Amino acid sequence: MKIMSEKLQIRVRRARTSDRAAVFKICEKTWSWGDYVPKVWDRWLKDKNSRVFVAIINETLVGITQLSIDKPHEVWLRGARTDSNYRRMGVATAITKKCLEYAKRKGAKVARLVTETDNIAAQAVLQKLGFQPIAEFAEMTTEKIAQAESKGVKWAKEDEAEAMWAYLQTSEIYRRSAGLYTILYQWFSLEKQDLKRFIEKRKAIMHKSREGEVDGLALIDDVTAREWHGNTIQTCYIDGDYDAVLDMTRFLKNHCYMLGVKKIYALTPNYKPVTTALERLGFKMPDEISIVYEKRI
Ligand SMILES: CC(C)(COP(=O)(O)OP(=O)(O)OC[C@H]1O[C@@H](n2cnc3c(N)ncnc32)[C@H](O)[C@@H]1OP(=O)(O)O)[C@@H](O)C(=O)NCCC(=O)NCCS
Repeated sequence: MKIMSEKLQIRVRRARTSDRAAVFKICEKTWSWGDYVPKVWDRWLKDKNSRVFVAIINETLVGITQLSIDKPHEVWLRGARTDSNYRRMGVATAITKKCLEYAKRKGAKVARLVTETDNIAAQAVLQKLGFQPIAEFAEMTTEKIAQAESKGVKWAKEDEAEAMWAYLQTSEIYRRSAGLYTILYQWFSLEKQDLKRFIEKRKAIMHKSREGEVDGLALIDDVTAREWHGNTIQTCYIDGDYDAVLDMTRFLKNHCYMLGVKKIYALTPNYKPVTTALERLGFKMPDEISIVYEKRI
């Protein structure tokens, strides 16, 4: 089907449960493997922090985008989809603008999202809407889990939060990561209270130099096990020089070995000292890099 009309009227409204079939239809062939949207649709509609907007042209549902406000002042956008017959007609632009208006009304000051280096269409839309690329991450994975020895690494304790926070303030990696950490594929600003939460939950690994100074840290979470596949873990943030990253990753691998974790998703800044250390320990670099975009609203 080819849609000819130049100036079609696009109406954007909140999604309803009755949109399900139409949404699933436009998501049928998003990528060669399909799409994740049908798996999360019910949750997107139920979650109190979430809102889904759809675009309608002549009574036909032609596009969607979901947003969530999980941290005050920050909105995360995802799942932009335009029916392939209605692309390049301003559908994604209209929905994104509506999402930004809504987020602003809810008090958000910044909007972020992620796309991959090969998604030219998404990058073009974002550029046109005034989003800026702020950080690049690589999802490096390994299933080579084995016992390993590490030096200078331990689980961080609560009274070490200040020293870790001070380390981050001058860290090149914190700067390159735009001060963000990730849970699954959503990035959040890493504030002192977040760091403390990771430490309390025994999910913060710390590296110290021979002089006893903090010179690296890694934050982890097992949310991947709950959401994706059993027995996996992810890194949410990783920071340190080549040697510190090597040691912290060995520590993590050992931890995984003891727990029977089978796979590590290391979401790391796309920065050589970190990625080469991980490659040395058997992690694979992905084909595409994830770019986080941001717009002040
Ligand atoms: C990315 C996507 C949502 C864009 O939707 P869309 O409704 O076609 O986007 P718009 O019509 O609002 O595009 C606005 C502008 O972005 C640019 N643009 C959009 N698609 C483009 C493409 N394929 N190539 C180059 N520029 C493009 C153009 O400048 C366009 O304006 P113009 O058509 O007047 O030149 C759509 O291509 C899609 O559903 N892709 C598959 C799913 C996906 O990748 N989602 C994003 C995940 S982050």
